[in-house]
Amino acid sequence: MNTRRQLELLDLHPEIENVTREVCEGLQKQQKSLSPKYFYDERGSELFEAITQLDEYYPTRTELALFDAHLPDIADLIGAGSCVIEYGSGSSLKIRKLLEALSPLAYVPVDISRDYLLSNAMALAQDFPQLTVLPVCADFSQSIALPEQVGGLNPIGFFPGSSIGNFEPAQAKQFLGRVANTLGSGGYFLIGVDCKKDPAVLERAYNDEDGITAAFNLNALSHLNHLLGAEFQLDAFEHEAHYNQEAGCIQMFLRSTARQQVSIGDSIFAFDDGERLHTENSYKYSPDELIRLAEDSGFGCEHLWQDADEYFGLYLLKAL
Ligand SMILES: C[S@@+](CC[C@H](N)C(=O)[O-])C[C@H]1O[C@@H](n2cnc3c(N)ncnc32)[C@H](O)[C@@H]1O
Repeated sequence: MNTRRQLELLDLHPEIENVTREVCEGLQKQQKSLSPKYFYDERGSELFEAITQLDEYYPTRTELALFDAHLPDIADLIGAGSCVIEYGSGSSLKIRKLLEALSPLAYVPVDISRDYLLSNAMALAQDFPQLTVLPVCADFSQSIALPEQVGGLNPIGFFPGSSIGNFEPAQAKQFLGRVANTLGSGGYFLIGVDCKKDPAVLERAYNDEDGITAAFNLNALSHLNHLLGAEFQLDAFEHEAHYNQEAGCIQMFLRSTARQQVSIGDSIFAFDDGERLHTENSYKYSPDELIRLAEDSGFGCEHLWQDADEYFGLYLLKAL
């Protein structure tokens, strides 16, 4: 039986030197950019959780309703799985429903936000005493060595929340290829993906009235201040999010409200007044596009469930 004390974290969090190098490389580009993974320290994870409760943010409640309506069918199709691997586990809200439907032997939540991962994994281990919970703190944009206890168990992959949209399409293909490899031929991958829709609905979801998404966006800077000793002035940047029709993605930026310099260790980065720092792309996929991407990456699509408005898609993929 799992208890709080017995839970072991496999900590593969990237080394600080590598984080510093990656962040500095992004800030040296013509279009300055940061990876969206930097939103997520404990506060960032809590802010994302607050976003999922917002009236404007339709994806989470739409995806949860799809789970409620279709989990029995999903469980019938997947059959009894022995190990669920969740990429970007966050608050674990959705996994609870899946665990109840599948009753697996083991659960591997993978997330970059270490403290939040651990506290949610502990809560889950308390609530599912028969389940072996094996948390892994890692960057899922890289290859991940899973805990050795997973070997020999039949794995099922789970990737809700449309996090696939944060990858550039070429990176999404690489990620899916790695997952197909991890799951092995015949392995199931349940993935929730936000669909293309009226840009006004999309832009509203990323520009909430309470400014929670703005705080989440700015949290990337405060995270890097804590993690790397960077010296971003949070009140000298403003949130911006809009839909790029041509690229098919929501783009988030932090716009510098002054001419300023930001130091990270020995490196200094100059921002013009109005210059934008790119912090996230969130690609939206029509079902045809997502299925083609999956097929190009070593998966076939077994089933797609959508809500009546076709806002969101829940795909059951199977590794070929
Ligand atoms: C958009 S949230 C989704 C959370 C949850 N799965 C859901 O559906 O509501 C993205 C989650 O993935 C994690 N994450 C983001 N980028 C990551 C990366 N490169 N490696 C590992 N975890 C990452 C974040 O910490 C966060 O918990």
